Amino acid sequence: MMGGARRAESGFEVRSVYRPDDVDAEAAAPPERVGEPGKYPFTRGVYPTMYTQRPWTMRQYAGFGTATESNARYHQLIKAGTNGLSVAFDLPTQMGYDSDEYIAHGEVGKVGVAIDSVEDMRTLFNGIPLGEVSTSMTINAPASVLLLLYQIVAEEQGVDPAKLTGTIQNDVLKEYIARGTYIYPPAHSLRLITDIFAYCNDVLPKWNTISISGYHMAEAGATPAQEIAFTLANGIEYVRGAIAAGLSVDAFAPRLAFFFVSRTSLLEEVAKFRAARRIWAKVMKEEFGATNPKSLMLRFHTQTAGVQLTAQQPEVNMVRVTIQALAAVFGGTQSLHTNSYDEAIALPTEKAARLALRTQQVIAFESDLTATVDPFAGSYTVEAMTDEVEAAALALMSKVEERGGAVAAIEQGFQKSEIEETAYQNSREIDGGERVVVGLNRFTVDVEEPYEPLRVDPTIEEAQAARLAALRAERDDAEVTAALAELVETAKGTGNVLYPMKRALVARATVGEVCHALRSVWGTYVPSEVF
Ligand code: 3HC
Repeated sequence: MMGGARRAESGFEVRSVYRPDDVDAEAAAPPERVGEPGKYPFTRGVYPTMYTQRPWTMRQYAGFGTATESNARYHQLIKAGTNGLSVAFDLPTQMGYDSDEYIAHGEVGKVGVAIDSVEDMRTLFNGIPLGEVSTSMTINAPASVLLLLYQIVAEEQGVDPAKLTGTIQNDVLKEYIARGTYIYPPAHSLRLITDIFAYCNDVLPKWNTISISGYHMAEAGATPAQEIAFTLANGIEYVRGAIAAGLSVDAFAPRLAFFFVSRTSLLEEVAKFRAARRIWAKVMKEEFGATNPKSLMLRFHTQTAGVQLTAQQPEVNMVRVTIQALAAVFGGTQSLHTNSYDEAIALPTEKAARLALRTQQVIAFESDLTATVDPFAGSYTVEAMTDEVEAAALALMSKVEERGGAVAAIEQGFQKSEIEETAYQNSREIDGGERVVVGLNRFTVDVEEPYEPLRVDPTIEEAQAARLAALRAERDDAEVTAALAELVETAKGTGNVLYPMKRALVARATVGEVCHALRSVWGTYVPSEVF
Protein backbone atom coordinates (compact mmCIF):
# COMPACT_ATOMS: atom_id res chain seq x y z
CA MET A 1 0.00 0.00 0.00
CA MET A 2 1.91 3.05 -1.19
CA GLY A 3 1.37 6.79 -0.53
CA GLY A 4 -0.41 8.59 2.32
CA ALA A 5 -0.29 7.54 5.95
CA ARG A 6 0.26 3.81 5.95
CA ARG A 7 -1.86 1.55 8.18
CA ALA A 8 -0.17 -1.37 9.90
CA GLU A 9 -1.78 -4.78 9.35
CA SER A 10 -2.96 -4.56 12.95
CA GLY A 11 -4.77 -1.31 12.25
CA PHE A 12 -2.59 1.42 13.78
CA GLU A 13 -0.99 4.26 11.76
CA VAL A 14 2.66 3.78 10.78
CA ARG A 15 4.40 7.10 11.31
CA SER A 16 6.92 8.21 8.69
CA VAL A 17 9.41 9.12 11.45
CA TYR A 18 9.37 7.83 15.04
CA ARG A 19 10.74 9.92 17.89
CA PRO A 20 11.17 9.46 21.65
CA ASP A 21 7.69 10.76 22.43
CA ASP A 22 6.19 8.13 20.15
CA VAL A 23 7.33 5.59 22.68
CA ASP A 24 4.77 5.98 25.44
CA ALA A 25 6.76 7.61 28.25
CA GLU A 26 4.69 5.99 31.03
CA ALA A 27 4.47 2.58 29.42
CA ALA A 28 7.38 1.77 27.20
CA ALA A 29 10.47 3.81 27.98
CA PRO A 30 11.46 2.60 31.48
CA PRO A 31 13.96 -0.27 31.17
CA GLU A 32 11.74 -2.71 33.12
CA ARG A 33 9.13 -2.66 30.36
CA VAL A 34 11.69 -3.61 27.75
CA GLY A 35 13.83 -5.39 30.31
CA GLU A 36 16.72 -7.75 29.77
CA PRO A 37 16.81 -10.81 27.49
CA GLY A 38 16.13 -13.95 29.52
CA LYS A 39 14.36 -12.00 32.23
CA TYR A 40 10.71 -11.17 32.90
CA PRO A 41 8.78 -9.93 30.87
CA PHE A 42 11.11 -11.40 28.20
CA THR A 43 10.35 -8.66 25.64
CA ARG A 44 13.90 -8.97 24.32
CA GLY A 45 13.95 -12.79 24.17
CA VAL A 46 13.56 -15.85 26.37
CA TYR A 47 17.23 -16.65 26.90
CA PRO A 48 19.90 -14.24 28.25
CA THR A 49 22.30 -15.08 25.41
CA MET A 50 19.86 -16.09 22.64
CA TYR A 51 21.68 -16.79 19.35
CA THR A 52 25.06 -15.68 20.69
CA GLN A 53 25.11 -19.04 22.50
CA ARG A 54 23.01 -21.18 20.10
CA PRO A 55 21.34 -20.24 16.83
CA TRP A 56 17.62 -21.03 16.45
CA THR A 57 16.77 -24.59 15.41
CA MET A 58 16.55 -24.93 11.64
CA ARG A 59 13.52 -27.18 11.53
CA GLN A 60 12.16 -27.83 8.02
CA TYR A 61 8.61 -29.15 7.84
CA ALA A 62 8.61 -32.19 5.53
CA GLY A 63 6.68 -35.34 4.75
CA PHE A 64 4.90 -36.94 1.79
CA GLY A 65 4.07 -40.34 0.33
CA THR A 66 4.83 -43.39 2.45
CA ALA A 67 7.20 -43.51 5.42
CA THR A 68 9.95 -44.70 3.08
CA GLU A 69 9.85 -41.57 0.88
CA SER A 70 9.69 -39.24 3.87
CA ASN A 71 12.54 -41.06 5.62
CA ALA A 72 14.69 -40.39 2.54
CA ARG A 73 13.78 -36.67 2.65
CA TYR A 74 14.69 -36.48 6.36
CA HIS A 75 18.10 -37.99 5.64
CA GLN A 76 18.57 -35.42 2.81
CA LEU A 77 17.67 -32.57 5.18
CA ILE A 78 19.97 -33.86 7.94
CA LYS A 79 22.78 -34.16 5.35
CA ALA A 80 22.06 -30.56 4.24
CA GLY A 81 22.48 -29.34 7.83
CA THR A 82 19.02 -29.17 9.38
CA ASN A 83 19.20 -29.68 13.15
CA GLY A 84 15.56 -30.39 13.98
CA LEU A 85 13.01 -32.63 12.28
CA SER A 86 9.41 -31.65 11.57
CA VAL A 87 6.87 -34.22 10.35
CA ALA A 88 4.05 -33.35 7.97
CA PHE A 89 1.29 -36.00 8.07
CA ASP A 90 -1.24 -36.65 5.33
CA LEU A 91 -4.89 -35.71 5.95
CA PRO A 92 -6.17 -39.26 6.75
CA THR A 93 -3.57 -39.50 9.54
CA GLN A 94 -4.38 -35.98 10.76
CA MET A 95 -8.08 -36.89 10.85
CA GLY A 96 -7.58 -40.27 12.53
CA TYR A 97 -8.40 -42.55 9.58
CA ASP A 98 -6.42 -45.47 8.14
CA SER A 99 -5.07 -45.30 4.59
CA ASP A 100 -7.39 -48.11 3.44
CA GLU A 101 -10.61 -46.44 4.65
CA TYR A 102 -12.99 -45.15 1.99
CA ILE A 103 -12.81 -41.59 3.35
CA ALA A 104 -9.01 -41.62 2.86
CA HIS A 105 -9.21 -42.26 -0.89
CA GLY A 106 -7.19 -39.76 -2.92
CA GLU A 107 -5.52 -38.16 0.11
CA VAL A 108 -3.07 -40.92 1.14
CA GLY A 109 0.46 -39.50 1.27
CA LYS A 110 -0.62 -36.28 -0.47
CA VAL A 111 -0.05 -33.31 1.89
CA GLY A 112 2.14 -35.31 4.25
CA VAL A 113 3.31 -38.83 5.12
CA ALA A 114 0.83 -41.69 5.67
CA ILE A 115 1.30 -43.21 9.15
CA ASP A 116 -1.08 -46.06 10.07
CA SER A 117 0.85 -48.07 12.66
CA VAL A 118 3.99 -48.54 14.71
CA GLU A 119 5.54 -50.23 11.67
CA ASP A 120 5.18 -47.05 9.58
CA MET A 121 6.63 -44.94 12.42
CA ARG A 122 9.59 -47.33 12.61
CA THR A 123 10.18 -46.92 8.87
CA LEU A 124 9.79 -43.14 9.10
CA PHE A 125 12.74 -42.86 11.51
CA ASN A 126 14.84 -45.73 10.16
CA GLY A 127 18.51 -44.82 10.58
CA ILE A 128 17.74 -41.68 12.63
CA PRO A 129 18.86 -41.81 16.30
CA LEU A 130 15.84 -40.40 18.18
CA GLY A 131 17.93 -39.79 21.28
CA GLU A 132 19.99 -37.25 19.33
CA VAL A 133 17.34 -35.24 17.48
CA SER A 134 14.29 -33.20 18.49
CA THR A 135 11.26 -33.94 16.34
CA SER A 136 8.17 -31.81 15.86
CA MET A 137 4.99 -33.55 14.73
CA THR A 138 2.22 -31.46 13.23
CA ILE A 139 -0.63 -33.50 14.54
CA ASN A 140 -3.61 -32.31 16.54
CA ALA A 141 -6.69 -34.46 17.22
CA PRO A 142 -4.69 -37.77 17.10
CA ALA A 143 -1.60 -36.16 18.71
CA SER A 144 -1.62 -38.66 21.61
CA VAL A 145 -1.51 -41.59 19.15
CA LEU A 146 1.46 -40.29 17.12
CA LEU A 147 3.31 -39.23 20.29
CA LEU A 148 3.01 -42.77 21.68
CA LEU A 149 4.08 -44.33 18.37
CA TYR A 150 7.16 -42.09 18.43
CA GLN A 151 7.92 -43.05 22.04
CA ILE A 152 7.51 -46.78 21.23
CA VAL A 153 9.98 -46.54 18.33
CA ALA A 154 12.42 -44.51 20.45
CA GLU A 155 12.23 -47.15 23.21
CA GLU A 156 12.92 -49.86 20.59
CA GLN A 157 16.10 -47.88 19.76
CA GLY A 158 17.03 -47.96 23.46
CA VAL A 159 16.27 -44.26 24.13
CA ASP A 160 15.27 -43.32 27.69
CA PRO A 161 11.79 -41.71 27.36
CA ALA A 162 12.80 -39.18 30.04
CA LYS A 163 15.36 -37.82 27.59
CA LEU A 164 13.15 -37.76 24.47
CA THR A 165 12.77 -34.23 23.05
CA GLY A 166 10.35 -32.84 20.52
CA THR A 167 6.94 -31.27 20.14
CA ILE A 168 3.42 -32.26 19.17
CA GLN A 169 1.20 -29.48 17.89
CA ASN A 170 -1.78 -30.87 19.83
CA ASP A 171 -3.65 -27.54 19.52
CA VAL A 172 -7.20 -28.47 18.59
CA LEU A 173 -8.80 -25.14 19.51
CA LYS A 174 -7.20 -23.42 16.49
CA GLU A 175 -8.45 -26.31 14.33
CA TYR A 176 -12.01 -25.28 15.20
CA ILE A 177 -11.12 -21.68 14.17
CA ALA A 178 -8.96 -22.44 11.10
CA ARG A 179 -7.54 -25.50 9.28
CA GLY A 180 -10.27 -27.95 10.46
CA THR A 181 -8.42 -31.16 11.41
CA TYR A 182 -10.51 -31.70 14.56
CA ILE A 183 -12.29 -34.93 15.56
CA TYR A 184 -13.89 -34.79 18.99
CA PRO A 185 -16.07 -32.09 20.63
CA PRO A 186 -14.13 -29.36 22.54
CA ALA A 187 -14.61 -30.77 26.04
CA HIS A 188 -13.23 -34.20 25.05
CA SER A 189 -10.43 -32.60 23.03
CA LEU A 190 -9.41 -30.57 26.09
CA ARG A 191 -9.51 -33.73 28.24
CA LEU A 192 -7.23 -35.52 25.77
CA ILE A 193 -4.85 -32.54 25.77
CA THR A 194 -4.67 -32.38 29.56
CA ASP A 195 -4.17 -36.18 29.65
CA ILE A 196 -1.16 -35.60 27.39
CA PHE A 197 0.14 -32.86 29.73
CA ALA A 198 -0.12 -35.24 32.71
CA TYR A 199 1.38 -38.20 30.81
CA CYS A 200 4.36 -36.15 29.60
CA ASN A 201 4.89 -34.72 33.07
CA ASP A 202 5.24 -38.31 34.32
CA VAL A 203 6.86 -40.12 31.37
CA LEU A 204 8.29 -37.62 28.84
CA PRO A 205 9.41 -34.60 30.91
CA LYS A 206 11.51 -33.03 28.12
CA TRP A 207 8.72 -33.22 25.53
CA ASN A 208 6.96 -29.98 24.50
CA THR A 209 3.36 -31.01 24.97
CA ILE A 210 1.65 -28.47 22.73
CA SER A 211 2.50 -25.91 20.06
CA ILE A 212 -0.23 -23.31 20.48
CA SER A 213 -0.53 -22.01 16.97
CA GLY A 214 -1.33 -18.71 15.38
CA TYR A 215 0.15 -19.65 12.01
CA HIS A 216 -3.01 -21.15 10.50
CA MET A 217 -5.20 -18.28 11.69
CA ALA A 218 -2.68 -15.87 10.14
CA GLU A 219 -2.72 -17.87 6.90
CA ALA A 220 -6.53 -17.67 7.00
CA GLY A 221 -6.23 -13.86 7.13
CA ALA A 222 -5.63 -12.84 10.77
CA THR A 223 -3.68 -9.65 11.39
CA PRO A 224 -0.59 -9.83 13.63
CA ALA A 225 -2.66 -8.56 16.58
CA GLN A 226 -5.46 -11.06 15.88
CA GLU A 227 -2.90 -13.85 15.47
CA ILE A 228 -1.29 -13.37 18.88
CA ALA A 229 -4.56 -12.42 20.63
CA PHE A 230 -6.47 -15.55 19.56
CA THR A 231 -3.45 -17.78 20.05
CA LEU A 232 -2.75 -16.53 23.57
CA ALA A 233 -6.48 -16.75 24.37
CA ASN A 234 -6.33 -20.41 23.33
CA GLY A 235 -3.25 -20.79 25.51
CA ILE A 236 -5.15 -19.37 28.48
CA GLU A 237 -7.93 -21.90 27.84
CA TYR A 238 -5.43 -24.79 27.89
CA VAL A 239 -3.85 -23.55 31.10
CA ARG A 240 -7.27 -23.20 32.76
CA GLY A 241 -8.19 -26.72 31.57
CA ALA A 242 -5.00 -28.25 32.93
CA ILE A 243 -5.41 -26.52 36.29
CA ALA A 244 -9.05 -27.65 36.43
CA ALA A 245 -7.80 -31.20 35.73
CA GLY A 246 -5.69 -30.93 38.88
CA LEU A 247 -2.27 -30.10 37.40
CA SER A 248 -0.17 -27.42 39.09
CA VAL A 249 0.75 -24.62 36.67
CA ASP A 250 4.52 -24.96 37.10
CA ALA A 251 4.26 -28.70 36.44
CA PHE A 252 3.14 -28.27 32.84
CA ALA A 253 3.61 -24.61 31.77
CA PRO A 254 7.38 -24.87 31.07
CA ARG A 255 6.61 -27.35 28.29
CA LEU A 256 3.98 -25.22 26.50
CA ALA A 257 5.25 -23.88 23.19
CA PHE A 258 3.90 -21.62 20.47
CA PHE A 259 3.91 -21.32 16.70
CA PHE A 260 3.53 -18.15 14.64
CA VAL A 261 3.85 -16.92 11.08
CA SER A 262 6.39 -14.40 9.84
CA ARG A 263 5.40 -12.07 7.00
CA THR A 264 7.26 -9.62 4.78
CA SER A 265 5.96 -6.72 6.95
CA LEU A 266 9.15 -7.17 8.95
CA LEU A 267 8.92 -4.30 11.46
CA GLU A 268 5.38 -5.15 12.55
CA GLU A 269 6.26 -8.84 12.79
CA VAL A 270 9.23 -8.13 15.07
CA ALA A 271 6.91 -5.97 17.20
CA LYS A 272 4.36 -8.82 17.21
CA PHE A 273 6.81 -11.38 18.59
CA ARG A 274 8.09 -8.99 21.26
CA ALA A 275 4.53 -8.07 22.29
CA ALA A 276 3.47 -11.73 22.45
CA ARG A 277 6.33 -12.60 24.84
CA ARG A 278 5.46 -9.66 27.10
CA ILE A 279 1.72 -10.45 27.20
CA TRP A 280 2.24 -14.17 27.89
CA ALA A 281 4.76 -13.53 30.68
CA LYS A 282 2.30 -11.20 32.43
CA VAL A 283 -0.68 -13.56 31.98
CA MET A 284 1.24 -16.52 33.43
CA LYS A 285 2.56 -14.46 36.37
CA GLU A 286 -0.46 -12.34 37.18
CA GLU A 287 -3.42 -14.57 36.26
CA PHE A 288 -1.99 -18.01 37.03
CA GLY A 289 0.60 -17.23 39.69
CA ALA A 290 3.32 -19.20 37.92
CA THR A 291 6.65 -18.86 39.72
CA ASN A 292 9.03 -21.00 37.66
CA PRO A 293 10.64 -18.55 35.14
CA LYS A 294 10.30 -21.25 32.46
CA SER A 295 6.51 -21.06 32.97
CA LEU A 296 6.60 -17.40 31.94
CA MET A 297 8.70 -17.84 28.79
CA LEU A 298 6.91 -17.83 25.44
CA ARG A 299 9.12 -20.13 23.34
CA PHE A 300 8.00 -20.33 19.73
CA HIS A 301 8.55 -21.79 16.27
CA THR A 302 8.02 -19.69 13.18
CA GLN A 303 7.12 -20.62 9.63
CA THR A 304 7.39 -18.09 6.85
CA ALA A 305 4.04 -17.04 5.36
CA GLY A 306 2.80 -19.58 2.82
CA VAL A 307 0.01 -17.32 1.59
CA GLN A 308 2.55 -14.70 0.50
CA LEU A 309 4.17 -17.13 -1.96
CA THR A 310 3.16 -16.68 -5.59
CA ALA A 311 2.98 -19.27 -8.36
CA GLN A 312 3.87 -16.39 -10.70
CA GLN A 313 7.65 -15.81 -11.08
CA PRO A 314 8.26 -18.33 -8.25
CA GLU A 315 11.93 -17.38 -7.82
CA VAL A 316 10.73 -14.07 -6.35
CA ASN A 317 9.54 -16.15 -3.39
CA MET A 318 13.17 -16.67 -2.34
CA VAL A 319 13.36 -12.91 -1.66
CA ARG A 320 10.10 -12.97 0.29
CA VAL A 321 11.22 -15.95 2.38
CA THR A 322 14.49 -14.19 3.18
CA ILE A 323 12.68 -11.10 4.50
CA GLN A 324 10.23 -13.28 6.43
CA ALA A 325 13.09 -15.32 7.93
CA LEU A 326 14.82 -12.08 9.00
CA ALA A 327 11.58 -11.00 10.71
CA ALA A 328 11.56 -14.26 12.71
CA VAL A 329 15.23 -13.93 13.66
CA PHE A 330 14.96 -10.27 14.65
CA GLY A 331 11.87 -11.36 16.60
CA GLY A 332 13.75 -14.00 18.62
CA THR A 333 12.28 -17.28 17.34
CA GLN A 334 13.52 -20.55 18.88
CA SER A 335 12.90 -22.64 15.77
CA LEU A 336 12.31 -21.74 12.13
CA HIS A 337 10.90 -23.27 8.96
CA THR A 338 11.58 -21.40 5.72
CA ASN A 339 9.20 -22.18 2.87
CA SER A 340 10.49 -23.42 -0.46
CA TYR A 341 10.07 -21.05 -3.39
CA ASP A 342 8.01 -23.61 -5.39
CA GLU A 343 5.51 -24.42 -2.65
CA ALA A 344 2.76 -22.27 -4.20
CA ILE A 345 2.92 -24.70 -7.13
CA ALA A 346 3.35 -28.16 -5.53
CA LEU A 347 5.30 -30.12 -2.92
CA PRO A 348 8.86 -28.73 -2.71
CA THR A 349 11.50 -30.35 -4.85
CA GLU A 350 14.69 -31.46 -3.08
CA LYS A 351 16.60 -28.51 -4.55
CA ALA A 352 13.98 -25.96 -3.47
CA ALA A 353 13.89 -27.46 0.05
CA ARG A 354 17.68 -27.26 0.25
CA LEU A 355 17.64 -23.60 -0.89
CA ALA A 356 15.10 -22.81 1.82
CA LEU A 357 17.44 -24.26 4.43
CA ARG A 358 20.43 -22.46 2.91
CA THR A 359 18.55 -19.18 3.43
CA GLN A 360 18.60 -19.80 7.18
CA GLN A 361 22.25 -20.87 7.11
CA VAL A 362 23.32 -17.66 5.35
CA ILE A 363 21.50 -15.58 7.97
CA ALA A 364 22.93 -17.67 10.84
CA PHE A 365 26.51 -18.10 9.65
CA GLU A 366 27.29 -15.27 7.21
CA SER A 367 25.38 -12.35 8.76
CA ASP A 368 26.15 -10.72 12.11
CA LEU A 369 22.62 -11.28 13.46
CA THR A 370 23.74 -13.95 15.94
CA ALA A 371 26.36 -11.59 17.40
CA THR A 372 23.94 -9.64 19.56
CA VAL A 373 20.53 -10.06 21.19
CA ASP A 374 17.35 -8.27 20.05
CA PRO A 375 19.08 -5.51 18.02
CA PHE A 376 15.81 -3.56 17.64
CA ALA A 377 15.57 -2.95 21.42
CA GLY A 378 15.28 0.77 22.13
CA SER A 379 14.32 1.53 18.54
CA TYR A 380 11.68 4.28 18.61
CA THR A 381 9.89 2.51 15.76
CA VAL A 382 9.91 -1.06 17.03
CA GLU A 383 9.27 -0.17 20.68
CA ALA A 384 6.32 2.02 19.66
CA MET A 385 5.02 -0.69 17.32
CA THR A 386 5.46 -3.31 20.05
CA ASP A 387 3.22 -1.20 22.29
CA GLU A 388 0.68 -0.73 19.49
CA VAL A 389 0.44 -4.42 18.65
CA GLU A 390 0.31 -5.28 22.36
CA ALA A 391 -2.56 -2.84 22.93
CA ALA A 392 -4.52 -4.16 19.94
CA ALA A 393 -3.98 -7.76 21.01
CA LEU A 394 -5.00 -7.10 24.62
CA ALA A 395 -8.22 -5.42 23.42
CA LEU A 396 -9.07 -8.51 21.35
CA MET A 397 -8.23 -10.85 24.25
CA SER A 398 -10.69 -8.87 26.38
CA LYS A 399 -13.39 -9.39 23.74
CA VAL A 400 -12.74 -13.15 23.88
CA GLU A 401 -12.96 -13.04 27.69
CA GLU A 402 -16.25 -11.09 27.50
CA ARG A 403 -17.66 -13.98 25.44
CA GLY A 404 -16.68 -16.53 28.10
CA GLY A 405 -13.18 -17.48 26.99
CA ALA A 406 -11.75 -19.06 23.85
CA VAL A 407 -13.99 -22.14 23.64
CA ALA A 408 -17.20 -20.15 24.19
CA ALA A 409 -16.07 -17.51 21.68
CA ILE A 410 -15.26 -20.28 19.15
CA GLU A 411 -18.73 -21.75 19.61
CA GLN A 412 -20.14 -18.24 18.95
CA GLY A 413 -17.98 -18.02 15.82
CA PHE A 414 -16.26 -14.86 17.08
CA GLN A 415 -12.63 -15.53 16.10
CA LYS A 416 -13.60 -17.04 12.74
CA SER A 417 -15.78 -14.07 11.76
CA GLU A 418 -13.13 -11.54 12.84
CA ILE A 419 -10.52 -13.30 10.69
CA GLU A 420 -12.88 -13.69 7.72
CA GLU A 421 -13.54 -9.94 7.77
CA THR A 422 -9.80 -9.19 7.64
CA ALA A 423 -9.25 -11.77 4.91
CA TYR A 424 -11.99 -10.18 2.83
CA GLN A 425 -10.40 -6.72 3.19
CA ASN A 426 -6.98 -8.12 2.22
CA SER A 427 -8.28 -9.78 -0.92
CA ARG A 428 -10.13 -6.61 -1.95
CA GLU A 429 -6.91 -4.61 -1.58
CA ILE A 430 -4.99 -7.16 -3.68
CA ASP A 431 -7.69 -7.31 -6.34
CA GLY A 432 -7.78 -3.51 -6.41
CA GLY A 433 -3.99 -3.22 -6.64
CA GLU A 434 -3.83 -1.17 -3.40
CA ARG A 435 -1.84 -4.00 -1.81
CA VAL A 436 1.05 -4.78 -4.18
CA VAL A 437 2.01 -8.42 -4.76
CA VAL A 438 5.04 -8.36 -7.03
CA GLY A 439 4.53 -10.58 -10.06
CA LEU A 440 0.83 -11.01 -9.34
CA ASN A 441 -0.84 -7.58 -9.61
CA ARG A 442 2.21 -5.49 -10.51
CA PHE A 443 5.57 -6.08 -12.20
CA THR A 444 4.11 -9.08 -14.05
CA VAL A 445 5.58 -10.91 -17.06
CA ASP A 446 3.75 -11.73 -20.30
CA VAL A 447 4.70 -15.42 -20.31
CA GLU A 448 5.49 -17.47 -17.18
CA GLU A 449 8.39 -19.93 -17.52
CA PRO A 450 7.32 -23.62 -17.35
CA TYR A 451 8.07 -25.40 -14.04
CA GLU A 452 8.14 -29.21 -13.50
CA PRO A 453 6.74 -29.78 -9.97
CA LEU A 454 7.28 -32.80 -7.71
CA ARG A 455 4.31 -35.20 -7.95
CA VAL A 456 3.35 -37.89 -5.40
CA ASP A 457 3.05 -41.36 -6.94
CA PRO A 458 -0.71 -42.15 -6.89
CA THR A 459 -0.04 -45.90 -6.53
CA ILE A 460 1.19 -45.44 -2.96
CA GLU A 461 -2.41 -45.81 -1.76
CA GLU A 462 -2.44 -49.48 -2.80
CA ALA A 463 1.02 -50.02 -1.29
CA GLN A 464 -0.13 -48.53 2.01
CA ALA A 465 -3.33 -50.64 1.99
CA ALA A 466 -1.25 -53.79 1.41
CA ARG A 467 0.97 -52.92 4.40
CA LEU A 468 -2.16 -52.55 6.56
CA ALA A 469 -3.56 -55.92 5.38
CA ALA A 470 -0.26 -57.65 6.22
CA LEU A 471 -0.13 -55.99 9.65
CA ARG A 472 -3.67 -57.08 10.51
CA ALA A 473 -2.95 -60.63 9.35
CA GLU A 474 0.17 -60.96 11.51
CA ARG A 475 -0.84 -59.26 14.78
CA ASP A 476 -2.50 -60.82 17.85
CA ASP A 477 -6.11 -59.73 17.31
CA ALA A 478 -7.21 -60.83 20.79
CA GLU A 479 -4.63 -58.52 22.39
CA VAL A 480 -5.65 -55.63 20.10
CA THR A 481 -9.32 -56.15 20.90
CA ALA A 482 -8.68 -56.31 24.64
CA ALA A 483 -6.48 -53.20 24.59
CA LEU A 484 -9.04 -51.21 22.58
CA ALA A 485 -11.77 -52.31 24.98
CA GLU A 486 -9.66 -51.06 27.90
CA LEU A 487 -9.19 -47.76 26.06
CA VAL A 488 -12.95 -47.40 25.58
CA GLU A 489 -13.61 -48.07 29.27
CA THR A 490 -10.95 -45.56 30.32
CA ALA A 491 -12.39 -42.94 27.94
CA LYS A 492 -15.79 -43.47 29.54
CA GLY A 493 -14.22 -42.86 32.94
CA THR A 494 -11.70 -40.31 34.16
CA GLY A 495 -8.44 -42.24 33.82
CA ASN A 496 -5.58 -41.12 31.60
CA VAL A 497 -6.32 -42.66 28.16
CA LEU A 498 -2.68 -42.64 27.03
CA TYR A 499 -1.78 -45.71 29.07
CA PRO A 500 -4.30 -48.14 27.49
CA MET A 501 -3.70 -46.40 24.16
CA LYS A 502 0.01 -47.27 24.31
CA ARG A 503 -0.87 -50.92 25.07
CA ALA A 504 -3.07 -51.03 21.94
CA LEU A 505 -0.43 -49.41 19.71
CA VAL A 506 2.28 -51.80 20.89
CA ALA A 507 -0.09 -54.62 19.91
CA ARG A 508 -0.21 -52.97 16.48
CA ALA A 509 -3.63 -51.38 16.65
CA THR A 510 -3.82 -48.82 13.85
CA VAL A 511 -4.19 -45.03 14.12
CA GLY A 512 -7.72 -45.34 12.73
CA GLU A 513 -8.75 -48.12 15.13
CA VAL A 514 -7.57 -46.10 18.16
CA CYS A 515 -9.31 -42.93 16.97
CA HIS A 516 -12.50 -44.85 16.17
CA ALA A 517 -12.48 -46.33 19.69
CA LEU A 518 -12.52 -42.77 21.08
CA ARG A 519 -15.13 -41.66 18.50
CA SER A 520 -17.39 -44.47 19.80
CA VAL A 521 -17.29 -42.86 23.27
CA TRP A 522 -16.94 -39.13 22.62
CA GLY A 523 -18.60 -38.64 19.23
CA THR A 524 -17.32 -36.03 16.77
CA TYR A 525 -17.47 -32.20 16.67
CA VAL A 526 -20.09 -30.55 14.46
CA PRO A 527 -19.35 -26.82 13.96
CA SER A 528 -22.07 -24.35 14.92
CA GLU A 529 -23.74 -22.74 11.86
CA VAL A 530 -22.74 -19.07 12.31
CA PHE A 531 -23.38 -16.71 9.39
N1 3HC B 1 20.61 -20.24 26.26
C1 3HC B 1 20.30 -21.30 27.04
N2 3HC B 1 19.69 -22.43 26.60
C2 3HC B 1 19.37 -22.45 25.30
C3 3HC B 1 19.65 -21.39 24.42
C4 3HC B 1 20.32 -20.23 24.97
N3 3HC B 1 20.64 -19.18 24.20
N4 3HC B 1 19.20 -21.72 23.19
C5 3HC B 1 18.64 -22.94 23.31
N5 3HC B 1 18.77 -23.40 24.58
C6 3HC B 1 18.34 -24.69 25.10
C7 3HC B 1 16.86 -24.70 25.42
O1 3HC B 1 16.61 -24.33 26.77
C8 3HC B 1 16.50 -26.16 25.16
O2 3HC B 1 16.83 -26.94 26.28
P1 3HC B 1 15.62 -27.63 27.14
O3 3HC B 1 14.79 -28.42 26.18
O4 3HC B 1 16.30 -28.46 28.14
O5 3HC B 1 14.87 -26.47 27.71
C9 3HC B 1 17.41 -26.58 24.02
O6 3HC B 1 18.52 -25.66 24.06
C10 3HC B 1 16.70 -26.47 22.68
O7 3HC B 1 16.35 -25.12 22.51
P2 3HC B 1 14.80 -24.71 22.24
O8 3HC B 1 13.89 -25.49 23.10
O9 3HC B 1 14.71 -23.23 22.31
O10 3HC B 1 14.63 -25.14 20.69
P3 3HC B 1 13.83 -26.37 20.10
O11 3HC B 1 13.95 -26.27 18.66
O12 3HC B 1 14.22 -27.64 20.76
O13 3HC B 1 12.31 -26.09 20.55
C11 3HC B 1 10.22 -24.98 20.48
C12 3HC B 1 11.66 -24.97 20.02
C13 3HC B 1 9.48 -23.81 19.83
C14 3HC B 1 10.16 -24.84 22.00
C15 3HC B 1 9.57 -26.33 20.11
O14 3HC B 1 8.22 -26.38 20.55
C16 3HC B 1 9.60 -26.61 18.63
O15 3HC B 1 10.58 -27.11 18.11
N6 3HC B 1 8.49 -26.33 17.92
C17 3HC B 1 8.45 -26.65 16.50
C18 3HC B 1 7.04 -26.68 16.01
C19 3HC B 1 6.98 -26.95 14.53
O16 3HC B 1 7.97 -27.26 13.89
N7 3HC B 1 5.78 -26.85 13.95
C20 3HC B 1 5.58 -27.05 12.53
C21 3HC B 1 4.22 -26.61 12.17
S1 3HC B 1 3.92 -26.79 10.47
C22 3HC B 1 2.19 -26.75 10.40
O17 3HC B 1 1.50 -26.47 11.33
C23 3HC B 1 1.54 -27.16 9.14
C24 3HC B 1 1.58 -26.18 8.05
O18 3HC B 1 0.24 -26.04 7.63
C25 3HC B 1 2.09 -24.85 8.34
